[in-house]
Amino acid sequence: MLQTECRSLNIRGKALLPIVQGGMGVGISAHRLAGSVARQDALGTISSVDLRRHHADLMAQTGKSRDKELIDRANLIALDREIKAARVLAEGKGMIAVNIMRAVAEYAAYVRQSCESGADAVVVGAGLPLDLPELTADHPQVALIPILSDVRGISLVLKKWMRKNRLPDAIVIENPRHAAGHLGASRLEDVNDPHFAFSVVIEGTLELFRQLGIERERIPLIAAGGVNSHDTVRELFAMGAAAIQLGTAFAVTAEGDAQPAFKKVLAQAKPEDIVTFMSVAGLPARAVRTPWLANYLDKEAKLQKKAGQKPCTVGFDCLQQCGLRDGIGKAGQFCIDTQLAFALNGDIKRGLFFRGSEPLPFGSEIRSVVELIRYLLSGVRPPLPEPSAA
Ligand SMILES: Cc1cc2nc3c(=O)[nH]c(=O)nc-3n(C[C@H](O)[C@H](O)[C@H](O)COP(=O)(O)O)c2cc1C
Ligand code: SF4
Repeated sequence: MLQTECRSLNIRGKALLPIVQGGMGVGISAHRLAGSVARQDALGTISSVDLRRHHADLMAQTGKSRDKELIDRANLIALDREIKAARVLAEGKGMIAVNIMRAVAEYAAYVRQSCESGADAVVVGAGLPLDLPELTADHPQVALIPILSDVRGISLVLKKWMRKNRLPDAIVIENPRHAAGHLGASRLEDVNDPHFAFSVVIEGTLELFRQLGIERERIPLIAAGGVNSHDTVRELFAMGAAAIQLGTAFAVTAEGDAQPAFKKVLAQAKPEDIVTFMSVAGLPARAVRTPWLANYLDKEAKLQKKAGQKPCTVGFDCLQQCGLRDGIGKAGQFCIDTQLAFALNGDIKRGLFFRGSEPLPFGSEIRSVVELIRYLLSGVRPPLPEPSAA
């Protein structure tokens, strides 16, 4: 364990370092990253989406298939393998969570599989997980953690869950102004709205807890989006956050599950390369303007105008509602599964590379999970790497 004197994040009676590694799909946070983070006594998160892509045998069976049932089955097998492998790597330390997006078609199946395969927590974003207590009723030991962005969403989930005698074990508050991937605002023009600011949401949530008679310590608040320095961590703790969650900075660690080329694209992106646009899932999203994204954005308005219902391009039907398949003109018009899979494999030209808006703690350097966690908690920067002998 890292020898840092600091507060702990308490979830279900377990005291963790107050650092959470956010779930990142497709395949960006699989067992290696989540297990390495948990091994440091922190919370590591596997993203549940399309994990078969990390398993050659499952890809051999499904890579060219358009059989949704077969693909879904392969993904549940992959999820089971990844959870078990992360647990081995973690050596019983920290916690292993699984991130499941409410917007994906197999949301309920992924939640059940995560519980059955031994995840310590399920973390649900991209939609309101109002039904999560019922879905996990047979697994009361599994911590439930919604990802929300404003007080209204938090209030809706709390009130609904309280009627079922369940409280979240923590809440991730993700700020759409800075976070990567899908953002918790319904429209592009709302992403920077001041009601999403951490100070507003944390204060409003603590007031909501008072109104609902919930003790402040009962539900730790985890701030996510744009955290990139020890000073920011301290500011967020002072505001009332119990822990912080990072995505992009963990994606580019040596232990991140994506190819080195993926990490390079994220780490070397300049502020002007990062764009916000509408995803096929009907939510705004943030990513690096790579050649594919630049080309798509040039054509976006035309594609949206001609949007019309069509079969899923790959037969996987990954989303409950897909702008491309269902012909929703105000949503994105590309296949997100295909583009994210290109990115995972480091295909710089064709991939969609989600990234947060802020500079990274170590600039464009690739560092380890331990170095990142230590820097965030202590402010001590690791020494520069030795120059290579060449
Ligand atoms: C490549 C990438 C993929 C992501 N995919 C997901 C995802 O599948 N589900 C999710 O809830 N959040 C996803 N996120 C968001 C992160 O979990 C995290 O909350 C966010 O990146 C925090 O902002 P930061 O990147 O500024 O630290 C993703 C982020 C990145 C960088
Ligand atoms: S077309 Fe839509 S539903 Fe089908 S795999 Fe692509 S993003 Fe998912």
